[in-house]
Amino acid sequence: MTGATERLPAGLAPSSGSLNFTEDTVPAVLQQEHRLAPGRWGVLHVFEGSVRFVNLETGDEHDVSAPDLITIHPQVPHKLHLTGRLRCRVDFFRELDDNATMRTPGSFANDEVHRSFQRCEATGDFADTFYNTFLNSSPEIAPHFAQTDFARQRKLLRDSVQLMVARDVADPEMRALVNQLGESHSRTKRNIAPRLYELWLDSICETVKALDSEWTAELEAHWRVRMRAGMQIIMAAY
Ligand code: HEM
Repeated sequence: MTGATERLPAGLAPSSGSLNFTEDTVPAVLQQEHRLAPGRWGVLHVFEGSVRFVNLETGDEHDVSAPDLITIHPQVPHKLHLTGRLRCRVDFFRELDDNATMRTPGSFANDEVHRSFQRCEATGDFADTFYNTFLNSSPEIAPHFAQTDFARQRKLLRDSVQLMVARDVADPEMRALVNQLGESHSRTKRNIAPRLYELWLDSICETVKALDSEWTAELEAHWRVRMRAGMQIIMAAY
């Protein structure tokens, strides 16, 4: 009923995500029997260390060690058992009933984030500022880009951010993009460890702060929600 490296069913809509937890901050409720509601799926990402996932329906126990994830099915009783050092997060997804529309979380802030992106582009080179920030965010990043043609990469990044800003995940072009990026960044291809996406998102936000004269903390929160939806799908494909 649960499985590491198991793919989520296609077409689920990203919903909320948890905070990042360490072994000291994992909420007690996650360490006791609990279950996701009908139609709700979860992906537990282990960024550092490991944790034991206990499926209380089957009795299976599975140690999930970084960098790895485990897919959590709706309604399956389970709990986490701490085994030592840990940094993790849980991303949530939902099935859609016939009447539901697949709105990206953050749809309410679409126009605001879109206008912010346009202001950034009027001020400077979004992708250039982004890569200067991202490559300096951790010594782990630059080695991934050792062979990269940055003129080409800046354009690809800029176009993908624009699509993530402008379209909901229901949009076929947007969905195709994040599915393809999920594939290309996964462990069998570029092997981008899911914890690095936190640096990616922080770097996007620093770029917006540097280029948008109308930046506010609230605007940044809207950017985070908006980008997170596509990111969740890419990360779940790791
Ligand atoms: C939501 C987050 C991200 C988006 C939207 C994104 C977008 C893209 C796009 C559009 C490409 C070019 C198409 C492809 O090769 O698949 C690409 C390539 C790449 N990305 Fe990402 N990316 C994200 C996160 C990351 C992270 C966290 C890393 C960590 C280092 C990373 C590393 C790379 C590398 C190494 C390439 C290949 C560069 C080359 O061609 O040499 N990406 N990404």
